[in-house]
Amino acid sequence: MTVLGIETSCDETAAAVVRRSPSGKGEILSNAVFSQIAEHTPYGGVVPEIAARAHVEHLDGLIARALNEANVGWDDLDGIAATAGPGLIGGVIVGLMTAKGIALARNLPLIAVNHLEGHALTARLTDDAPFPYLLLLVSGGHSQLLVVEGVGRYRRLGTTIDDAVGEAFDKVAKLLGLGFPGGPAVEKIAREGNPKRFALPRPLIGKPGCDFSFSGLKTAVRQLAEAQVDPDRQTRADIAAAFQQAAGDVLADRAINAMHMARQFVGEGPQRLVVAGGVASNLALRARLETAARSCGYELIVPPPKLCTDNGAMIAWAGAERLALGLVDGLNASPLARWPLDPDATPARGAGVKA
Ligand code: KG4
Ligand code: ZN
Repeated sequence: MTVLGIETSCDETAAAVVRRSPSGKGEILSNAVFSQIAEHTPYGGVVPEIAARAHVEHLDGLIARALNEANVGWDDLDGIAATAGPGLIGGVIVGLMTAKGIALARNLPLIAVNHLEGHALTARLTDDAPFPYLLLLVSGGHSQLLVVEGVGRYRRLGTTIDDAVGEAFDKVAKLLGLGFPGGPAVEKIAREGNPKRFALPRPLIGKPGCDFSFSGLKTAVRQLAEAQVDPDRQTRADIAAAFQQAAGDVLADRAINAMHMARQFVGEGPQRLVVAGGVASNLALRARLETAARSCGYELIVPPPKLCTDNGAMIAWAGAERLALGLVDGLNASPLARWPLDPDATPARGAGVKA
């Protein structure tokens, strides 16, 4: 089964071709990504209208490149998958409408993919991870712990009650004058820093449950940064290192609670913790989570960094997994700004909960 995947939900325009064997093995035939960083850098963050326009300008060329690099033609494809949400709605519309046009013109099935499911299933493409597994999904818009029971079957154990962890990385980068995008910049400078020089809070650590909170940590970094008069590089590195360590401690603490909780859903067999989403590309956080997983008798699975940040292969793969189960969508599929993986999850509670 060969599927073209299109990803346009944020600031990467991406197209990829992925093949899934009948036994469920995945192979990436091409994975073309155009990062819009240069377009958004002057504004210090992603501007939705600029992103949508850049997707329009680049998507056709990327699709042609993805087919070309995969050495496949339209007739070799079995389906067209595109992110249908959640994300910046203008961009989602560009990708989904393009996919609909191709599906109609080439008489191919359309698969409207949930971007979060793309992240969630990547470990099956890269590491053949069997169901069920526990998933720590950490990106610019989400921090969640979910039991992945199967394609389209998610049970949320915890979520953030305020900010996403990637958002906190981006904010800290801005406070330290490290520019955009923030996560990789914080990780890089933190390597030169002493995480012990500054003490930072670790919200919710030691509390029951698996919810996250990052706004208090973000505020503490802002106060710390503002208290420094003309901080030198070492000071900024020390702040970045302290923040990254605090964020890692929070993720590990919440994941440990989830690993215990998940046992009631996934049984006592071999246990796996999968980490996915842009923040999962952070090597220091991976190491921290490796220790946490081992302490609970879990195996840690993290896809390679390039497949943790947004890409087309994850959408093509989620499309192939759905297509294999006969889960296809009509040309009336709607783009969605919000689309939870577990619609039955109890809403997060707390002082800073965002609607
Ligand atoms: O999954 P993703 O590419 O897009 C969303 O779906 O949100 O995740 C982007 C987020 C951004 O907040 C970015 O700063 C963060 O992932 N990120 C990182 C790293 N690389 C990307 N955070 C920490 N360390 C990194 N190396
Ligand atoms: Zn993403």
